[in-house]
Amino acid sequence: MGEQKIQKLAGVRGMNDVLPVDAKQWLYLEKILHDLTRAYGYEVLKTPIVEATEVFQRGIGVVTDIVEKEMYSFEDRLNGEQLTLRPEGTAAVVRAVIEHNLLYDGPKRLCYMGPMFRHERPQRGRYRQFHQFGVEALGFAGPDIDVEIIVMGQRLWDELGLRGVTLEINSLGQASERATHRAALVTYFNAHAATLDEDSQRRLLTNPLRILDSKNPVMQEVIEKAPRLLDFLGTDSLQHFTAVQGLLKAHNIPCKINPRLVRGLDYYNLTVFEWVTNELGAQGTIAGGGRYDPLIERMGGKAAPACGWAMGIERVLELMAISGSTPEPESVCDVYILHQGGATLTAAFIAAEQLRSAGIDTILFCAPDGQATSFKAQMKKADASGAAFAVIIGPDELARNEAQIKDLRGQGGQRAVPLPNLLEAMIDALVSASE
Ligand code: HAM
Repeated sequence: MGEQKIQKLAGVRGMNDVLPVDAKQWLYLEKILHDLTRAYGYEVLKTPIVEATEVFQRGIGVVTDIVEKEMYSFEDRLNGEQLTLRPEGTAAVVRAVIEHNLLYDGPKRLCYMGPMFRHERPQRGRYRQFHQFGVEALGFAGPDIDVEIIVMGQRLWDELGLRGVTLEINSLGQASERATHRAALVTYFNAHAATLDEDSQRRLLTNPLRILDSKNPVMQEVIEKAPRLLDFLGTDSLQHFTAVQGLLKAHNIPCKINPRLVRGLDYYNLTVFEWVTNELGAQGTIAGGGRYDPLIERMGGKAAPACGWAMGIERVLELMAISGSTPEPESVCDVYILHQGGATLTAAFIAAEQLRSAGIDTILFCAPDGQATSFKAQMKKADASGAAFAVIIGPDELARNEAQIKDLRGQGGQRAVPLPNLLEAMIDALVSASE
């Protein structure tokens, strides 16, 4: 019998590895997000990836695509608990805010970042594991905070140099207004029942507003002519919406009112919004959010207003690449150290640690087979690393208690320095190279 070939293992469909070459862009984006949230006073809240399924059922609403079809839910084999991989961040943030009584001393501005999971059909811009960055402002009722979070998003797109991003907004009013609108919707859609697909027929009975969310091309004309929620808003809701629009104008942020924008989650009221682009094909929404005043109470907390948004990191990174605003990747290190094993390796090791302690990013050559290779081969690696300088410690250098510093960019010169002076010489060299 011949030996059986061991099969390679593959990742899960729709869940991607972020390779080192792409990770650099992620780190760049994360740094900008970090600075943005600091600039606006948003504090980080980290919640677990797994929550009790009920957090999302109650939070997002049971008659939504996410809860009905897309959640990775399972029973904990050991204790029978019903658990779910989080499909979004808001319900989990609210769960944590209530559990830890974070609103006890007043409103909170929070942010988070991490993987989310939805069992959707994978395609460009749509994954089963994707990453969101989100902000949530809890305990604030006025239109000023709606606008603050929108301004924050706009600043982010500007800083990232994103092209062709449009802000669409709508108001979902309050529950009583939606109830009147719902009755009108049911009458209207009943009259067009023949055009509705199976999902929408069902939703006509459970959650007719969701029908407006349908992307089914056959239904678009009927949806287009459906009664508009905006026409059912009362004075207070209209006032809030007008104030948001006024403040956006004052900030010079153009927006398009989209009466069909209902969002795919059931916790929203009043302002809802999305940033969309035509540059990404079918998955053109890079971020979305809105006000969700009813949610905290619905999740078992003391009623408090709130609003927020979340963006899809993968989609934003793709749009950065399309917009030509992806920065050149930085080199992985400042200095690459070459040696010939034995005592030269020991000296190189000590030198590397010394440079790192001074904040100089240093890679020490490490032979794949444990045997030091020729300097020529090592120098190729040093060049490929993007380091500004190579430090060479061979047996001859070590005998003289010296190291060679070789300029890998600029003039390409090489000079010997006493080993005890290496750090000082390296700092001087890096400073003059950056001038
Ligand atoms: P969402 O609209 O479901 O809202 O998701 C926000 C963003 O996550 C989307 O605009 C999109 O960029 C990205 N996204 C969603 N699904 C996928 C996917 N399958 N693959 C790649 N990217 C995806 C929420 O999740 C709300 N929690 C936002 C919010 C925060 N509302 C208030 N606060």
